[in-house]
Amino acid sequence: MIFIKDVHLAFGHKKLFTGIAETIGPKDRIALVGSNGSGKTTFLRMLMGEVVPDEGEVEKPDYATVGYLPQDGVTAKDGTLREEVAKAFSGMTELKEKLDEAETKLGEMDPEAEEFYDLIDLMGAWEEQLASFEPEKMNSRIERVMTGMGFSLEDIDRRVDEFSGGWQMRIALGKLLLQGPSLLILDEPTNHLDVVSQNWLEHYLRKYQGSILIIS
Ligand SMILES: Nc1ncnc2c1ncn2[C@@H]1O[C@H](COP(=O)(O)OP(=O)(O)O)[C@@H](O)[C@H]1O
Ligand SMILES: [Mg+2]
Repeated sequence: MIFIKDVHLAFGHKKLFTGIAETIGPKDRIALVGSNGSGKTTFLRMLMGEVVPDEGEVEKPDYATVGYLPQDGVTAKDGTLREEVAKAFSGMTELKEKLDEAETKLGEMDPEAEEFYDLIDLMGAWEEQLASFEPEKMNSRIERVMTGMGFSLEDIDRRVDEFSGGWQMRIALGKLLLQGPSLLILDEPTNHLDVVSQNWLEHYLRKYQGSILIIS
């Protein structure tokens, strides 16, 4: 689904990547480990397209979505928590269009190719996402995920600016889970979670439809 092709990157004299070649499949579970400053965050930002390699490339078909929880520094400012995380569903019209586009593309693809099956997997996940896009289901999904993140039902209708930094990260993580990108990237997500929410997240991710790349 995502192809990392012979990527090189250096900052000044510090060489971070010297020829990385990897493929990320639609249901992969990847853990990224390395010492501080080894380039983990930079690698994720490269997958997001925020950092461009010096050599090589990251090839991502436009039907694949990538969602990223940064290590820190996320703040939501306006409205209630419910309104903020409901924005996760604003891409539904777009998703519907992508699904139509993918269907056309599927018709033109070689049914023997691995990509053909990757696309079918992705489309299955999108269809499920679209099916859950009914106002009633949307609210119950919001409540399920946000209580999983440790918020009470009353919290969900409080203003987002009432929450502190650590809770802001939980808001961002919840919103990301509700978005359900085809590749979910989490940079040290447990830093901001207590044990109960960590366990909840572990269970939730086990059933996650897409692929997951995690730094921990
Ligand atoms: N935009 C940048 N410009 C210059 N150096 C950078 C930049 N981003 C990261 N670095 C350097 O690259 C190295 C890897 O950083 P990072 O990817 O954050 O590591 P990790 O997440 O593994 O701790 C660090 O030495 C950092 O200072
Ligand atoms: Mg980092």
